[in-house]
Amino acid sequence: MRVLIIGSGGREHALVWKVKRSALVKKVYCAPGNYGISCDALCIDIPAHDIKRLLAFAVKEKIDLTIVGPEQPLVAGLVDEFEANGLAIFGPNQRAAELEGSKAFAKELMARHKIPSAEFRIFTALEEAQNYVNSARMPLVIKADGLAAGKGVYVCTEKVQALIALHQIMESRVFGQAGSRVVIEEFLTGEELSVLALSDGENLVYLAPAQDHKRIFDGDLGANTGGMGAYAPTPFLDEETFRRIRTEIMEPTIRAMAREDRPYRGVLYAGLILTSEGPRVLEYNCRFGDPETQVILPLAASDLVEAIMACRAGGLANFQWRNHAGAAAGVVIASGGYPERYTTGHPIVGLEGPLEKDVVIFHSGTKAAEGHPVTAGGRVLTVTAWAPDLEAAIARAYRTVGKLTFDGAYYRRDIGARGLRKR
Ligand code: AMP
Ligand code: GLY
Repeated sequence: MRVLIIGSGGREHALVWKVKRSALVKKVYCAPGNYGISCDALCIDIPAHDIKRLLAFAVKEKIDLTIVGPEQPLVAGLVDEFEANGLAIFGPNQRAAELEGSKAFAKELMARHKIPSAEFRIFTALEEAQNYVNSARMPLVIKADGLAAGKGVYVCTEKVQALIALHQIMESRVFGQAGSRVVIEEFLTGEELSVLALSDGENLVYLAPAQDHKRIFDGDLGANTGGMGAYAPTPFLDEETFRRIRTEIMEPTIRAMAREDRPYRGVLYAGLILTSEGPRVLEYNCRFGDPETQVILPLAASDLVEAIMACRAGGLANFQWRNHAGAAAGVVIASGGYPERYTTGHPIVGLEGPLEKDVVIFHSGTKAAEGHPVTAGGRVLTVTAWAPDLEAAIARAYRTVGKLTFDGAYYRRDIGARGLRKR
């Protein structure tokens, strides 16, 4: 098979890495990819949002399967376009991707189908939202309705913060159209985790449950980021909790989407929080998580392409997804200053030479400058390692992290520490 991966981050590098290991696959393309991806796949210089050119490329190159990384092209209807042209593609179509594309839609769907999540209100008028905030008890969580590149969520402990958030979203329109509606949610506390499953529209196949580290500083302090590291499987998911997540959240979501004539095919990623009253949905994503995928796929023993082909043929009911024993940990190395301002173009040192066994380096923001790797984004590299237990996987990952550097390189030193404390 000729497989095309769409996107340019560490998640897409992990997808390329995994797909290349499939016995079904002869050639892997990535659009647009990055420096590290270009070492593993043929990179095509088409941005992930350029649906027309991606389609023309896939038709011309007779691509047998396309896998979409980021949410934006899914929400914009890339899958619909590919399918209308008879191309095999993995991901939800536009109507199904609404689950991530509109937080108001997702909240109302959960309410209609009694899927546990935070209490909420939806507002389209700034003044009404302001009045609500003024009369409500803090803390509150304010979310722009549409896609906001992971920046549309404000956790507010003070009313003034909430009022500023509303102003930014609804009046200044810092996220454009995504701010025409807001969701105001009850603040929940508990351990957060990411459950990802492949769905054929009816059946679910679960990947290893993971935990992301969203905050920039050690101890989960500081600003929210795209994710500074992850590990899997997470010990916070005992048998009973996992059963509840499957039967109270994941299965009802897939059934709800089918019943509402939006059959969901693709990866369903639930961002969950384990409250004292049980698991609750914080958000749905309609795609693979980043950085979660960078630990979930190295941990997988099963063939992803085989699973996706089964999924497309409606045959997930009998598909067994298997993981290797042990655990995987991935540490992100970011540009100094991320998630605020940072500089790029710094040469990356330490990528040459052989890697320690059971380690892989995934590239996010890297590009070639005169043939050499330089930084090109906020998150630059992820070192993923796997081992018989989490502690060994973390130690192994950090050994390689210590050999990589560039001007201003920054990483958290406590990836996986919550998991270790829990064991
Ligand atoms: P989201 O993009 O919706 O996952 O939100 C980003 C982060 O904001 C989550 O990972 C949580 O840490 C936090 N968050 C979102 N919704 C809530 C909520 N209702 N209660 C507490 N924290 C939340
Ligand atoms: N890890 C967070 C995300 O993929 O949205």
